[in-house]
Amino acid sequence: MDRRLFLTYVGSGTAALVAASSGIGALTGNAMTGNHLMNGQPSGKGKSLTAPFKPVSRTWENDMVLPNGYNYSIIASYGDKINSKGEIFGDAADLTVYFPMDSLKGGNNSEEGLIWVNHEFPEPGNYMKMLGINEATFKKENLANYPELLKMEKEAVGGSVIHVIKEKDGWKLVLDDTYNRRVDGNTPIELTGPARGSSYVGGATTVVGSLGNCSGGRTLWNTVLSCEENTEYGDDYGWPNFNDNHYGWVVEVDPFDPKRPVRKHTALGRFAHENTAMGLTNDGRVVVYMGDDKGDACFYKFISSKKFNPANREANFDILESGTLYVASMSQQKWIALDRATNSKLQTPEFADQAAVLTNARAAGLAVGGTKLDRPEDVEIHPHDGSVFLSLTNNTGHGNFHGQIVRFVPANGDHASESFTFEVFVAGGQQSGITCPDNLHFDSKGNLWVVEDYAATETNQYAAYKNCGVFMVPTDGKEYGEPFQFASGPKGCEVTGPWLTPDEKTLFLDVQHPETWNPYPGQTFGRSCLVAVQGGSFK
Ligand code: FEO
Ligand code: CA
Ligand code: CA
Repeated sequence: MDRRLFLTYVGSGTAALVAASSGIGALTGNAMTGNHLMNGQPSGKGKSLTAPFKPVSRTWENDMVLPNGYNYSIIASYGDKINSKGEIFGDAADLTVYFPMDSLKGGNNSEEGLIWVNHEFPEPGNYMKMLGINEATFKKENLANYPELLKMEKEAVGGSVIHVIKEKDGWKLVLDDTYNRRVDGNTPIELTGPARGSSYVGGATTVVGSLGNCSGGRTLWNTVLSCEENTEYGDDYGWPNFNDNHYGWVVEVDPFDPKRPVRKHTALGRFAHENTAMGLTNDGRVVVYMGDDKGDACFYKFISSKKFNPANREANFDILESGTLYVASMSQQKWIALDRATNSKLQTPEFADQAAVLTNARAAGLAVGGTKLDRPEDVEIHPHDGSVFLSLTNNTGHGNFHGQIVRFVPANGDHASESFTFEVFVAGGQQSGITCPDNLHFDSKGNLWVVEDYAATETNQYAAYKNCGVFMVPTDGKEYGEPFQFASGPKGCEVTGPWLTPDEKTLFLDVQHPETWNPYPGQTFGRSCLVAVQGGSFK
């Protein structure tokens, strides 16, 4: 980015920087902080945003490998007790959202806060070993006969709220009965929006549990949105009485108030939700960008009916209950509203009413001409120019093994615009050296942090890429779009959940499904866990 423009964007004070580091984007006030990209294309001639570290190389090493000067510590692993009730940190850690302890007063405490972590799926094979169940003879149809295993599976998923504090020797989990709690496969969760109580959810207004909690995001009013991705897990694991339509929604949790009901917002549609990226339209309504993580599925945005109220947190809790869901047509470069009342393509028996449209939002998106994409996963809004970055992880059915990151530029610098332009920001593969981009996170300079998701063996097409990594990619300057590898994860794992503290001195990451299970304590490597990376600069 051009130095002069950069200063213009941050000239409004630290708010933009803080918002950027929180991953929300420049959302304070009514407008984006800059719009040169919204009205044109990046020049690539701006100030270099170079890596503040010496990149690491691809490796099979079974550890979190970091550049010289950086170190990591484990804050919590699967099975760690988080409160006196004996609730445990769940499995398959994914999204990390850090809330400064003083968030509700507008603060940026970077040394004490609450963290939400998603727990995406259970690992029944590991639990069977712990319980002494013979995996070879176990049949999922008989899961009800193994109540201890079912209990472990349901307690492994959903998400955790944990209180964390930075001490001299690293970040620690604080055993805390005020904040530390679980949302899991047993938690009662309210439905909101048009599909609440509808026949498509069996008339339910409350459902039991959350699962498939992949990535998500932070709202402007300091709650977390946790995204239910692979809803078929319940059937995969043989959970009794599993109703698929009760899952596949966006779940809102208030980390600061355990008494506030957890809610699934049906207005945001039901599909394989990967994450959410929240911003504001020019007139102050909320936009939520969302990918449907499946090959040949679509990219969506939701725009609320109500405006965001920055002065009154409580006034924002119903914002995600009503609004319009749109799907992206790349060929028309347009957002198409999934509104049965105005779109004749949805006025069919399959979509008998708006609740049917939202419950079957994937089919509805395709019915109105949404473009089939190559696994749209994480999406984030650039903190300085408001452009929208979307990971397309891969689509082996199309021979797209390495994926891309695509950058969208909404027309007129407004997230409410019904049209956009787009271009490929990074193409995965040998030339860029990155593959299968998944979770994204921006730092305050506008560098994009990217984690990968693939399963390499020494003989498959990912062999040269070895273990999944973490990259930093400048979004302007002469190194525009050039990935620098920051970390390499333990063998067999997916590194997930990148999130920086507001002071950008700590990068949180999650290690999901490491190949070597349970050499803990001492750990190399270990159960799924949340780690804090410190020691060097991230900007
Ligand atoms: Fe759970 Fe789309 O990764
Ligand atoms: Ca993911
Ligand atoms: Ca993924």
